[in-house]
Amino acid sequence: MNAPTLDARLEAVLSLICAESHADIGSDHAKLPIRLIREGRIGRGVIVELNPGPLALARRNVARARLEAVLEVRGGDGFGPLAPGEVESASVTGMGAGTVAGILSRAGERLPPALVLQPNDSPAPIRTWARANGYHLTAERLIPGHWPYPVLRLERAGGNDPAYAGLPLAAALRYGPHLLREGSTLLRRQVWDDVVRLTPLAAPGRTAQVELDTARAALDVLGETGR
Ligand SMILES: C[S@@+](CC[C@H](N)C(=O)[O-])C[C@H]1O[C@@H](n2cnc3c(N)ncnc32)[C@H](O)[C@@H]1O
Repeated sequence: MNAPTLDARLEAVLSLICAESHADIGSDHAKLPIRLIREGRIGRGVIVELNPGPLALARRNVARARLEAVLEVRGGDGFGPLAPGEVESASVTGMGAGTVAGILSRAGERLPPALVLQPNDSPAPIRTWARANGYHLTAERLIPGHWPYPVLRLERAGGNDPAYAGLPLAAALRYGPHLLREGSTLLRRQVWDDVVRLTPLAAPGRTAQVELDTARAALDVLGETGR
């Protein structure tokens, strides 16, 4: 395996990683860290896998790529197999946002100063976790695929995250502060899809009403009238 092909979402993840040392948590096929090494975006990597099948696949693919000297494969849960300060950045991709947020919450002092995350559903729990745990959202992408895949880069920093300044908080947590400012066609479609789905379900006191109000606040930021 020389330079494995990545789908568009992992290409976006790759483009947001540049570090001497990097950990890919829940790597499965190990294609992302292999490409990171091949392109010189990282000098050394640690691959962590919880489950035996994907762990064996990662080991096999790293061996086929003859990268055992620079990509170490470890079995374990989340950041557990890493020592504090061992890597400069880490990626967690292709899982539900709740699973990603759980992995981050359990990591404690093993968390590196930079994180690139690609949850498969709404990243609101991750944005909320970042605001409460001293990470700023420095870049976001929304990638077309089976559904719109969000990709987030977080960097450890003090004080309030300036990305949220001047935006309605619920809408920025749900749709992304950088993505709302950018206002891509894909994001607009996602917000309108939410409005169409939620409108028949919404009523005072219901969660759907809160979510609909959030979607309408996002439309206001996007300069579209959702009422
Ligand atoms: C759907 S795959 C995604 C693979 C790859 N990251 C991608 O984006 O294509 C999720 C992988 O995460 C692994 N995984 C799930 N929870 C994990 C955890 N707590 N720690 C490490 N690996 C985990 C699973 O075994 C599985 O291989």
